[in-house]
Amino acid sequence: MIPGERPSITILNTQQEHVPALAELQRIVFPTLTDDELLTEEKYLKHLEIFPEGQFVALMRTPDGDRVVGATSTFRTNFDFDHIQHTFLEASADGWLTNHDPNGEWLYGIDLAVHPEFRGRHIGRRLYEARQQLVYELNLRGEIAGGMLPGYHYHRRKLTIAQYVLRVKQGRIFDPTLTMQLKNGFRIRGILYNHLTDPRSNNAASLIVRENPYYRPTQEAPRRARPVRRVPRPSRPGPSPAPPFGI
Ligand SMILES: CC(C)(COP(=O)(O)OP(=O)(O)OC[C@H]1O[C@@H](n2cnc3c(N)ncnc32)[C@H](O)[C@@H]1OP(=O)(O)O)[C@@H](O)C(=O)NCCC(=O)NCCS
Repeated sequence: MIPGERPSITILNTQQEHVPALAELQRIVFPTLTDDELLTEEKYLKHLEIFPEGQFVALMRTPDGDRVVGATSTFRTNFDFDHIQHTFLEASADGWLTNHDPNGEWLYGIDLAVHPEFRGRHIGRRLYEARQQLVYELNLRGEIAGGMLPGYHYHRRKLTIAQYVLRVKQGRIFDPTLTMQLKNGFRIRGILYNHLTDPRSNNAASLIVRENPYYRPTQEAPRRARPVRRVPRPSRPGPSPAPPFGI
């Protein structure tokens, strides 16, 4: 590589060989999450079995080979926008994605992670672009995600979480995650309380949505979405027979 040149980044569908590095990246990027909220190697392998086209990795070329510097995991679902409250574990079937519905009309992104040393180089943006491209290809209605709000703790003494989110939306406050998501075309649809373990945001997250402007309704009548139900925890680690998420 020429000195001063930016290392080349490639986005591709996750392969089994990336899985150990992905589990390591989770612990670095999501230090506040509990063990059951973090994606493990076993969970990543399950995602590849269930919905390989929805799993993406960002690789940086180094003299020692490709290095995993970012990733995102997704699944397909239907979503009831009249009953938005849900936890990360409910949405993701405890992180296993066994609730993936091959006919689901929305892509649900359960995470987006960029290694702290490589942020601000549009790796996150490119991972979101890969997700958007998949939404177009599958003719889905769009994308849904529960976005973390890591900047809230600087403002918690003066603002409620709702006031904080509104100010970020208005561009009056910068949030390291939500500001970037808004720049990438997501819109805020609500606040998810007790969504996941993050003391910085009192465990809250934003419900963000990016609709597919090219979505073409199919002939089939749309199925009605059901509210999210709590997914029973498995008694020991392993894929849980989770009910479908909000069909
Ligand atoms: C959110 C996250 C994925 C962003 O990844 P990233 O690769 O740094 O994002 P990008 O480089 O694509 O975009 C960053 C944007 O924010 C801007 N930005 C970054 N730091 C900034 C700052 N301090 N002030 C203003 N803008 C800033 C960048 O300029 C860029 O905007 P642009 O597209 O207009 O140039 C990354 O910070 C991360 O992994 N965070 C922790 C996990 C997380 O919150 N994930 C998302 C929810 S699950």
